[in-house]
Amino acid sequence: MRILGIETSCDETAIAVIEATGTSRAPRIRVLSNVVSSQMKLHAKFGGVVPNLAKREHQRNLVPVLLQALRESRIMKHESRKRVGMSHDSQYKILDSILEREPELFAAMQKRVVPFATPDIDAIAVTAGPGLAPALWVGVNFARALSFLWKKPLIPINHLEGHIYTNLIPKDADGGASFPLPRFRYPALCLIVSGGHTELALMPRAGTYRIVGETRDDAAGEAFDKVAKMMNLGFPGGPIISRLAERGNTRVYAFPRPMIRDEHFDFSFSGLKTAVLYTIRDMKKLGAKEKRDIAASFEQAAVDVLVAKTVRAAKKFRARTVMIGGGVAANKKLRETLRAKLAAELPRVPFLVPHVPLTGDNALMIALAGFFNTKKKSAWNTVQADANLRLG
Ligand code: KG4
Ligand code: ZN
Repeated sequence: MRILGIETSCDETAIAVIEATGTSRAPRIRVLSNVVSSQMKLHAKFGGVVPNLAKREHQRNLVPVLLQALRESRIMKHESRKRVGMSHDSQYKILDSILEREPELFAAMQKRVVPFATPDIDAIAVTAGPGLAPALWVGVNFARALSFLWKKPLIPINHLEGHIYTNLIPKDADGGASFPLPRFRYPALCLIVSGGHTELALMPRAGTYRIVGETRDDAAGEAFDKVAKMMNLGFPGGPIISRLAERGNTRVYAFPRPMIRDEHFDFSFSGLKTAVLYTIRDMKKLGAKEKRDIAASFEQAAVDVLVAKTVRAAKKFRARTVMIGGGVAANKKLRETLRAKLAAELPRVPFLVPHVPLTGDNALMIALAGFFNTKKKSAWNTVQADANLRLG
């Protein structure tokens, strides 16, 4: 079975193709292609992701990214490149109506996709949410158009579930060799930390999710981004802060660890962010050393809360696997601190982490989530984007 994945929930336009072989009990996965086109540089000028700009860029990028993914996958049927049929006006009209709000995308599709034969795939998986509504809709409408054109079922995917599955993809997966999907035990607990989300998701069994904790205000990645902005460090702030923090002193500034001792598993990062803001405002000098120490002290405070709550939730819910996912899962301090604390307090619970290049948004994770959700195969006209889609 081959699945094409599409991801446009934020500022990456991504398309990937995977192939699943073997039995349902012992599946093997092969990555045929994994293309990510990032708009990061464009949004950096505005200090954050601008939804309508993201929509425009996705419209421009989707067809080239699709063609690259298909080419790399070698699943275009060369001997029958020209499409037969599709000459009917009625079909064009339907395609046009699916992409009514994306005229530029419709034009590119008409020229560079419609004339060619259907590639050898079995289903299309697309991020339905959560994310930025205008960005999500471009991807969903594109997926609907392809599903209609190619007569392939569509699988709507929760973006956060995609982030969870990155834990199962080995480091060298892009190399083209097939790999067995690692088995893990349930209940599994996943800390999902990204620019828009901070959630502790408990998986009692495969495909079932219960959110046991989440942020009440800012997401963890958002806090990193805002602290970086306060010091004029650029966007996205997470990687910049963590790089600076490596050479800073975590004990110079005593920032708060919001909700760290509370019974519940919810998070709050806005108080921490404000504490950093006031510290900076009251400083006489904000030189390179001060920036490093603020970065280190802030990162330590954020990581302490994330780690304490994750370990406590793992104990309370008797997790037999712990994982992390999302952009902030690239953070070295978070990975190392969580690993050490789990090893000390729950030594028998395996800790999975995603390969760093897969922590950011990509479509490989969406295609893989599609493989786990083949039961959700739907007709093109029933799939919708939902900016506030919840796990479980
Ligand atoms: O999952 P993601 O790529 O996009 C969303 O779905 O939001 O996450 C992006 C977030 C940004 O806030 C970025 O600053 C943060 O992940 N991030 C990091 C690191 N790398 C990326 N935060 C802390 N440390 C990092 N090394
Ligand atoms: Zn994400």
